[in-house]
Amino acid sequence: MDSAGREVVLITGCSQGGIGHALAREFAANDCRVVATSRSKSTMRDLDQDPRFYLQELDVSSAESVERVVSDVVGKYGKVDILVNNAGVQCVGPLAEIPLSAVQSTFDTNVFGTMRMVQAVTPHMASRRKGKIVNLGSVSVMGPTAWAGTYTASKAAIHALTDTLRLELKPLGIDVINVVPGAIRSNIGNSATANYNKMPEWQLYKPFEAAIRQRAYLSQSLKSTPAEKFAKDTVAAILRKDPPAWFSSGRYSTIMAILHHLPLRIKDAIINRISPINSSTT
Ligand SMILES: NC(=O)c1ccc[n+]([C@@H]2O[C@H](COP(=O)([O-])OP(=O)(O)OC[C@H]3O[C@@H](n4cnc5c(N)ncnc54)[C@H](OP(=O)(O)O)[C@@H]3O)[C@@H](O)[C@H]2O)c1
Repeated sequence: MDSAGREVVLITGCSQGGIGHALAREFAANDCRVVATSRSKSTMRDLDQDPRFYLQELDVSSAESVERVVSDVVGKYGKVDILVNNAGVQCVGPLAEIPLSAVQSTFDTNVFGTMRMVQAVTPHMASRRKGKIVNLGSVSVMGPTAWAGTYTASKAAIHALTDTLRLELKPLGIDVINVVPGAIRSNIGNSATANYNKMPEWQLYKPFEAAIRQRAYLSQSLKSTPAEKFAKDTVAAILRKDPPAWFSSGRYSTIMAILHHLPLRIKDAIINRISPINSSTT
């Protein structure tokens, strides 16, 4: 199969029900050739028979897996026009007690996974002096709440890395875009809870258990933006000839951008209302 002049888009974390899956379908709707990847093809089964998609298993925490998929795609299509680093995991737990292994594995996926993909794809994009790299950050960086410090720190690292990549990759002809979602409906609350269920019993933070569990679902209220709507706006921005360096959209993205600039005392008070530190006392 050749790409017939179409843009080849490689996306990580395309399991059904999440943002990556919605982005994959929206890129395909915009006539792109989409390499949709996830840890298991079974989570993308609905895309299987659609010729617009090339499905691959890719675990961003494995250098071998990243290298294998990137060289397969370059071999097949001769290029990667757009890389979307979407794969990510939420992680909740109090910073003073959370096992460092949980912090490390969150960073391994969210931060080092992104870096693995960037380092694998950049030589190919640089050889054509053309390409776009899209990293998924988070509005949580603009207004960090209790209990999600590990995740927020990993996304803050993504924002910082993306800012530097934008400068360093420009001379190689590569645009870098920080996509910063607000609250978007997806599987993120369920997967965060599955990880949380493996945490040890808290010592100092047992009374906060309910609030910690609740934090896993903060972005998943009825008011959160459907992933399809988010994907439509985001893909339109990415496909622009001159794409924006920062694209934030979805529920609460504007409020969080304002919150970011408030004095810390006021910011903490507002954050405490949005995400109470102890749900049993409110
Ligand atoms: N939803 C929101 O409100 C929101 C807000 C801000 C930022 N984001 C960011 O948006 C991105 C997508 O999240 P989502 O909300 O769509 O969550 P999601 O539904 O849980 O999707 C996350 C995807 O990442 C995949 N993944 C996890 N670890 C991986 C690994 N080691 N290698 C490859 N893939 C892996 C998951 O695969 P499995 O199905 O195998 O677990 C899944 O496909 C994440 O980076 C997230 O931090 C989301």
